[in-house]
Amino acid sequence: MTILVTGGAGFIGSNFVFHMLEHHPSDKIVCVDKLTYAGNLSTLRSVMENPAFRFVRADICDRTAICRLFEEEKPDIVVNFAAESHVDRSIEDPGIFLTTNILGTQVLMDACRKYGITRYHQVSTDEVYGDLPLDRPDLFFTEETPIHTSSPYSSSKAGADLLVLAYHRTYGLPVTISRCSNNYGPYHFPEKLIPLMIINALADKPLPVYGEGLNVRDWLYVEDHCRAIDLIIHEGRVGEVYNVGGHNEMRNIDIVKLICEKLGKPESLITHVADRKGHDMRYAIDPTKIHNELGWLPETKFADGIQKTIDWYLANRDWWEEIISGEYQSYYEKMYGERDPLPVG
Ligand code: NAD
Ligand code: DAU
Repeated sequence: MTILVTGGAGFIGSNFVFHMLEHHPSDKIVCVDKLTYAGNLSTLRSVMENPAFRFVRADICDRTAICRLFEEEKPDIVVNFAAESHVDRSIEDPGIFLTTNILGTQVLMDACRKYGITRYHQVSTDEVYGDLPLDRPDLFFTEETPIHTSSPYSSSKAGADLLVLAYHRTYGLPVTISRCSNNYGPYHFPEKLIPLMIINALADKPLPVYGEGLNVRDWLYVEDHCRAIDLIIHEGRVGEVYNVGGHNEMRNIDIVKLICEKLGKPESLITHVADRKGHDMRYAIDPTKIHNELGWLPETKFADGIQKTIDWYLANRDWWEEIISGEYQSYYEKMYGERDPLPVG
């Protein structure tokens, strides 16, 4: 079987490539990635020489390049991770989010229709459901929760999900969608909360918490997400959406304090800064469907996962030091330099 993985030089896509090469050694994994600021070839260094792996640099919006690749590789399954993924960047500049996340998805599915596949899988997000109030801990996102987005990022992901379901109903394309909560683990790009806080804390730099830091996210170790997608593409029902999450809700401020504690850094590094516009309060996934239908359960407890993640960032300084020494510096200055610190207390 040949599996085409888009966005495989990014955080979750690369972890998925590693997972598939390890657990399905007789399959061929073809990774297509544009190598945007978020894609890193050094991430894939360990598998580049693997005969079961091929890397192709291409944009999923480039119809000619994608069709050529389908002609060459004739993939059986396509798993689409490729996306612009950072909410803050989508607030600054929404355009590329609509292009990559919606039109890129269309190009991939058109190629799937033209050349034939057994499964197209769309990697989506819990953010398509909008947010939940902090004072209703009894509420969770199910697959039936209406789509109700907040940011240009989540709107573009929701638009893609609707298009995927439309291609199933209209053209009979064999699709599945997973909507996962916040991932963390190795190769997480430094712009995101957990790696940003680890890297800043190591340098004794301020830890910029948006607003009061009371927003809640439902954290899942990346390998658990990869296992869920592996199960869905092989055993999931065509045309279905599966929520993926591990009932591990945490407030941002508590995560940042935990990182300080683990690194032996003072909490005085924490700086409350201007809030994200339209900031979602709480995400919380109900994973009953994937558990009942496919037997999936998360395996990594947060206490273990965060320790493994911190250890990985300590052991892989070369990976992130190279990233933060480049274009990332001007990004950081633009996003955080102008952000007013908020009064403490
Ligand atoms: P990421 O930003 O780390 O990686 C995205 C990858 O896509 C990069 O390698 C980038 O080069 C590539 N890419 C971007 N535009 C492309 C294009 N036009 N053509 C080809 N490649 C392109 O993102 P991530 O955190 O690994 O997220 C992967 C997917 O999972 C996204 O679709 C995201 O919406 C979804 N998701 C992420 C999370 C999370 O917590 N990170 C949770 C749920 C769902
Ligand atoms: O829920 C799934 C989503 O999780 C994915 O679809 C997105 O691709 C992924 O980026 C992530 O989105 P979030 O916006 O939840 O992740 P982020 O790491 O950007 O922020 C997590 C929380 O931390 C959020 O409440 C904002 C806050 N935050 C973030 C940064 C970068 C801060 O307080 N300070 C920061 O500097």
